[in-house]
Amino acid sequence: MALLPILCYPDPKLHTVAKPVTRFDEALKTKIADMFETMYEAKGIGLAATQVDFHERLIVLDVSETKDQPLVVINPTIVSASSQHIVGEEGCLSVPGIYDEVERAQTVEIAYLDEQGQSKRLVAHDLLSICIQHEMDHLMGRVFVEYLSPLKRNRIKTKMIKAQREAARS
Ligand code: NI
Repeated sequence: MALLPILCYPDPKLHTVAKPVTRFDEALKTKIADMFETMYEAKGIGLAATQVDFHERLIVLDVSETKDQPLVVINPTIVSASSQHIVGEEGCLSVPGIYDEVERAQTVEIAYLDEQGQSKRLVAHDLLSICIQHEMDHLMGRVFVEYLSPLKRNRIKTKMIKAQREAARS
């Protein structure tokens, strides 16, 4: 297993649209294991392949308190979304230190494949629903700050660029 570098906003590679996973092989298993290790190490609850510069429709998640409920979601599609919405405070491993409110469907049902390529369905509520929608956005090249006002987004962009410059110098 290995820790993978996480792309940081506003890296243009975060806007890449991921392609479906087609090969369920050892390389995919390794990628999944590395993504879990990277996510847990960074204290995240979800990580999309896009964030580690791998542009296939693959997400790893674990929203449990105990960090023992890993979930692998491959080639997800939303089957249905509730008209009921919730507003949650979101953060992102690609936008470290920034948290803001985003409105999402409270419940989504998704169809996806597991790591063996088996078809699955899942009805997700609340935090898991938010997390799935957030990670599915990454696969479409979308970062949560794009839901914020242009003013806020530009402020975040400036802050991120400055932080990355400082990190590069040190
Ligand atoms: Ni994110």
